[in-house]
Amino acid sequence: MSDLTGKKAILEIDGTKYELPIYSGTMGPDVIDVKDILKSGHFTFDPGFMATASCESKITFIDGNKGVLLHRGYPIDQLATKTDYLETCYLLLNGELPNEQQKTEFTDVVRKHTMVHDQMSRFFNGFRRDAHPMAIMVGVVGALSAFYHNNLDMEDVDHREFTALRLIAKIPTIAAWSYKYTIGQPFIYPRNDLDYAENFLHMMFATPADRDYKVNPICAKAMDRIFTLHADHEQNASTSTVRLAGSTGANPYACIAAGIAALWGPAHGGANEAVLKMLDEIGSVDNVASFMEKVKTKEVKLMGFGHRVYKNFDPRAKVMKETCDEVLEALGINDPQLELAMELERIALSDEYFIERNLYPNVDFYSGIILKAIGIPTEMFTVIFALARTVGWISHWLEMQSAPHKIGRPRQLYTGEQQRNIER
Ligand code: SDX
Repeated sequence: MSDLTGKKAILEIDGTKYELPIYSGTMGPDVIDVKDILKSGHFTFDPGFMATASCESKITFIDGNKGVLLHRGYPIDQLATKTDYLETCYLLLNGELPNEQQKTEFTDVVRKHTMVHDQMSRFFNGFRRDAHPMAIMVGVVGALSAFYHNNLDMEDVDHREFTALRLIAKIPTIAAWSYKYTIGQPFIYPRNDLDYAENFLHMMFATPADRDYKVNPICAKAMDRIFTLHADHEQNASTSTVRLAGSTGANPYACIAAGIAALWGPAHGGANEAVLKMLDEIGSVDNVASFMEKVKTKEVKLMGFGHRVYKNFDPRAKVMKETCDEVLEALGINDPQLELAMELERIALSDEYFIERNLYPNVDFYSGIILKAIGIPTEMFTVIFALARTVGWISHWLEMQSAPHKIGRPRQLYTGEQQRNIER
């Protein structure tokens, strides 16, 4: 539990004073424990949770004003450039980076569980071929609890931790198969001789007719870094959804499926797909000025810009932009959409409308350009985000399950009808 500062907030209502304890964490704002407000017959009111800390957590810290993102204390730019995704997974789950032996053991366990129950492959057939892969992800991940009954005693920490590993291991297979199904190609099974990102790209792009298909190592490295940049982000909408679902005791597969559903929205993880559609609609640099006018009249939003927490650069966007330059150069791709994105960024960062609203590029602004360069189709962008964020969701789920917690049950400000009777 965080330290009680000894400080108190005094709330006075109709002459009565209520003392509300103030807690401090390791970093970031102190919090006011508002539980006792109930004694006053009032609720707090905070639609969108603009100023509400929903829980205590040790996993990720964000300083939105300074553009700082730490996972278990390590800055995201160091994790993205000095570790691989599975090392970051181990860190999020366990609190420390793995040593060589721990990394080998963790990688081996993940590799052993990349296959999914063979009956699940037939489960995909219930979807139309033109289904959005995110719709398939929500359905198939939710169905995992129908295929994996063992290790679901949520009181057993070994069961919880094993289920977390199972999800991290299987999510790339389900994601790749969600794509293969929509293009009518046969599923490609995971291979134990490939690393995590390479295995995913192999399942995405190999075919039985091309037995010698090799993943471009430049693409594999970029994919791995994109996974790391999306791994976790504190109490964002989808992680809060997972925590709320988990607070009811729902099984972890159902909780992660709820997180995938929440991530899909264009205001959240769906923004990466929306950025590419926006760049397609703008078409060329010549149209940027007229587009920006539509943004200012609020006809459209500049997708990939703005953030509830970052009122400075999203540190992930900086690494993503550097990666974008590296990948396009290494692959010899001259993508006009990158030039268009950079022009949009240049104009936005010098325009009063965006400056006074603290609107900066977020993680989604450049990711789509890299994913397109790797060959990932646009409708798979949010699936990639969900794949990468699964470790963050399940880390928060584990953290919540490892300590006493109450079911999440917010209240409301009711502005409906007074009680009335049916006159018949
Ligand atoms: C992610 O929470 C997380 O951590 C999420 C995430 C994670 O890793 O989990 O970081 C991932 O979801 C990144 C965000 C991806 N979404 C987008 O790129 C969609 C476009 N961005 C916006 O929809 C918006 O910026 C939000 C949803 C991200 C944040 O919205 P807020 O904090 O509720 O801010 P707001 O809507 O109240 O905006 C404040 C002002 C408004 O103008 P005024 O009413 O003051 O005149 O800024 C304007 C907004 O209209 N504004 C934008 C804008 N975002 C905000 N104007 C144009 N384009 C935008 N993108």
